Amino acid sequence: MIAARGSPMAIPHAIKDRHVNMDQNLVRVLACPQCGETLDCHSDDRLTCTGCSLSYPVHDGIPALLISAADARSTEFNDPEFEKFLAEAVAAPFSGWDLSWLADRCTTTTDDGPPLVEAYDGRARELLQQTSSVLDLGTGGGEHLSRLGPLPPLAVATESYRPNLSVAAERLAPAGVHVLQADPNTHHSGGPQPGNRWPERRLPLADNTFDLVLASSSAFSPMEVARVLRPAGRVLSLENGVEWRGETLADALAGTPAEWTMPGRGWDVGETFRQSGLQIVNWREQGTSTTYRDIGAAVYMLLHVPWLIVDFDLAHYRDRLHSLHERIQREGGFTTRGYARLIEAVKP
Ligand SMILES: C[S@@+](CC[C@H](N)C(=O)[O-])C[C@H]1O[C@@H](n2cnc3c(N)ncnc32)[C@H](O)[C@@H]1O
Repeated sequence: MIAARGSPMAIPHAIKDRHVNMDQNLVRVLACPQCGETLDCHSDDRLTCTGCSLSYPVHDGIPALLISAADARSTEFNDPEFEKFLAEAVAAPFSGWDLSWLADRCTTTTDDGPPLVEAYDGRARELLQQTSSVLDLGTGGGEHLSRLGPLPPLAVATESYRPNLSVAAERLAPAGVHVLQADPNTHHSGGPQPGNRWPERRLPLADNTFDLVLASSSAFSPMEVARVLRPAGRVLSLENGVEWRGETLADALAGTPAEWTMPGRGWDVGETFRQSGLQIVNWREQGTSTTYRDIGAAVYMLLHVPWLIVDFDLAHYRDRLHSLHERIQREGGFTTRGYARLIEAVKP
């Protein structure tokens, strides 16, 4: 059947009838994709979850059982403090990779000694003094790189998240850094592979160009880094809070984390460095604990760090956020555990 352009498609009677009376035999076998509980059908155009706050639309008799299509019943908690934390987090500023609003609301401690970022910064400054060219991968808003100057005559930074480009370019211009927009796939640790099979993963830079590659909180392909480094060039990388250990925000809120953040499902760093031929000269790891002291801090992170819960949405998560808020008040905070990893490697 072809509908006339611009006119609504005619609905056959059989489908219209199903729309009016949802078949109870069908409803009985349905489960909420969010929580797995059964669904109720009190009206002809919605299915309501009996376990969580979501309800799903029914379009022309066809249930749309997608979490992204669901509405969330909004619960009135009469909890002014909860509402205040939420409103503050939503209104708080965020640009580039500037998380300074979190300050005392979200604190990170290490298992042993000073945070690895201090070792990274110190070593990066040392290496920068000995080089004539540097590439910073995934520069964010350029905040971190700008703290490491002075920079060598050729300084290039890649960024793939569009809103960050102008922030980075403006911040880094005075230091003479050229900002490039790169495909988000250049953060894929597998690189383009033989035969340039995934060309979008290729760094848009020439072979044997840089003395130093920096990557802080940014995944990359060691094979691509080896290609753009000059012989005897070095890569220094710091990964922060990857592969969480123990309970995560996603666990506490029954949300979906990015798969690569889960233990055993992320970047096999050792193997990809081995394949690249880069020689690792320093590898340090450090356990970290991050404590959210109020629900506003957790919401701020969830709004701006999309890989913590990939389908985060304030309305959908409202009930669960309120439960976590009560827990934070009871326990004085919510703590997740992760680790940081510092690697330095040389191109032979
Ligand atoms: C975590 S930031 C780190 C930036 C910088 N290297 C640093 O150490 O502060 C690294 C990458 O995360 C990505 N990113 C940052 N904010 C994002 C957002 N809200 N959505 C999607 N990706 C984002 C960007 O591609 C960015 O290059």
